[in-house]
Amino acid sequence: MTENNAIARPVLVTGATGMTGSRVLAGLRELGVPTRAASRSSEWRFDWSEPKTWETVLEGAGAVYLVQDDTNPRTPEFVERAVAHGVERIVRLSARGVDQPGYFEGVEGVPSHVEGEEAVKSSGLKWTVLRPGWFAQNFSEGFLTEGARTGVLRLPTGEAAASWIDTEDIAAVAVAALTEPGHHGRTYELSGPRALTVAEALAQISDALGRPIRYEAVPVDEYVKGLVEQGWPEEGAQELVSALSAIRRGLEAKVSPGVREALGREPRNFSEFVARTFDAEWA
Ligand SMILES: NC(=O)c1ccc[n+]([C@@H]2O[C@H](COP(=O)([O-])OP(=O)(O)OC[C@H]3O[C@@H](n4cnc5c(N)ncnc54)[C@H](OP(=O)(O)O)[C@@H]3O)[C@@H](O)[C@H]2O)c1
Repeated sequence: MTENNAIARPVLVTGATGMTGSRVLAGLRELGVPTRAASRSSEWRFDWSEPKTWETVLEGAGAVYLVQDDTNPRTPEFVERAVAHGVERIVRLSARGVDQPGYFEGVEGVPSHVEGEEAVKSSGLKWTVLRPGWFAQNFSEGFLTEGARTGVLRLPTGEAAASWIDTEDIAAVAVAALTEPGHHGRTYELSGPRALTVAEALAQISDALGRPIRYEAVPVDEYVKGLVEQGWPEEGAQELVSALSAIRRGLEAKVSPGVREALGREPRNFSEFVARTFDAEWA
């Protein structure tokens, strides 16, 4: 099959309502590529916990953008089914640092992402792995929206910085990998162009919204206690703190070359994300 045959059939976009999938879908549609938006609430109903829904979405698909459910990771089984259905190309969303012991404090690595990466690499399909750092959109669509909403963001990240990646850039790389030659067998580590502390990021959002937003660095134990008091299971709270530890210990400040490698241009600035996102309409 040629590169073009793979995209003549629809591209299945999992996590289609999420921070990356929604943008991958938009990018493909802009190019006129046929798509299938898949998730529990999308046009193509797909649920990781109901394998019979996998069959429907995979039937006739030529390529897949794969976002795992971190709470129920099942990439290896899904990739087997994708191969059986004649899918040719797969782009797997992973994360930076997942195979480095101790990158996330207290864990050897992130097995679900490592196993997911291995599954696509050994599948025989054309594959691309995306390893982004922390998303800028966590501040506007994810779990950091509290800052912009309430005016205070409390996190156990000290004064450290992170090279927040705009999910528009993750999507642009995914779209390129799904539609163009030259990305097979590549693992792209993705970040924004420079690191900003949480306080610096919030200062930009505060300026755009025209109201004060404060960052409060909280000790790890206090943060976990707060989450548990809000009803989080202890294990979930520890997992979040472990993920955030990569920021606190400065590891997420690194600038990665993946956007330039894949697209031949620099990643978007955080300020561009802020200008595009936080206006009077933002709620
Ligand atoms: N946030 C970050 O900074 C960051 C950084 C690096 C890597 N990552 C990785 O990014 C991935 C998440 O991607 P994202 O941020 O694009 O997604 P997201 O915004 O977290 O949204 C999750 C998506 O998955 C769908 N979904 C949830 N449960 C599902 C289920 N049981 N079956 C089928 N679909 C389900 C949701 O749609 P429905 O509700 O409609 O099902 C939604 O479209 C995770 O694997 C995470 O490890 C995140």
